[in-house]
Amino acid sequence: MRVIIEKNYEFMSKRAAEVIAEQIREKPDSVLGLATGFTPLGTYKELIGMYKKEGLDFSRVTTFNLDEYYPIPSTHPQSYHYYMQKEFFKHININPDHTYIIDGLVKDVKAFCRWYEEEIKKVGGIDLQLLGIGRDGHIGFNEPGSSLGSRTRIKILDAATIKDNARFFGKKEDVPKYAITMGVGTIMDAKYCLLLASGSDKSKVLTKAIEGPITAQVTASILQMHKDLLVIADEKASRDLKNKEYYQHIEKLTEELKTLTIEE
Ligand code: PGA
Repeated sequence: MRVIIEKNYEFMSKRAAEVIAEQIREKPDSVLGLATGFTPLGTYKELIGMYKKEGLDFSRVTTFNLDEYYPIPSTHPQSYHYYMQKEFFKHININPDHTYIIDGLVKDVKAFCRWYEEEIKKVGGIDLQLLGIGRDGHIGFNEPGSSLGSRTRIKILDAATIKDNARFFGKKEDVPKYAITMGVGTIMDAKYCLLLASGSDKSKVLTKAIEGPITAQVTASILQMHKDLLVIADEKASRDLKNKEYYQHIEKLTEELKTLTIEE
């Protein structure tokens, strides 16, 4: 696990976009796992800028989104289909046939979830999974108590998540009560995970996730077991980390070490 602390949201977003751009430059047909919510908006904005200014090429990239509310039509302004088009896809040269987002109106949910998992496998798995963290410690919509080995399935949303997401819907009553989400096990299969956290309201949960015990009550905590995890947090989100100075020390020496070694 590597933890980078940036001074604010803008710097966190720039750093995250640089990591994703590097992945695409190294492997132009990369498979990206994408997230929604407030946290990755700045990262998408930076990537759009890189596409426009430097020609960062998304033409061979495939994407799988983490989750979608249920039930919700893709035309709903709060659906993650709508979000992805508006905030990212329509601004870059990605092939729409290569963007997978969970269908928020599918009737045969189990068959759909199996299909989603199969499609991920068919393209060779996710190279880089972008993640935010919920105030209840969720990744995707894997709410507290989710099996740490779970696969894509339908979940009942936690009351805390519904309350949180009311900021997007206007009122609590309008937030869907269910979601279809990649499982914790699906996320853990990604070759590389990039977890972002911004703002003081994430500081306690981020501390639990990366410094606390691994528990299904904070599904993000399983990421401590991931073989290649990068956490990028801003100052406010890192406020409660007990080992903050240690991460900063490691980061400084990691950069220094790069000047001494050859990376494959
Ligand atoms: P947020 O949501 O980025 O809007 O804070 C994160 C999440 O719920 O995963």
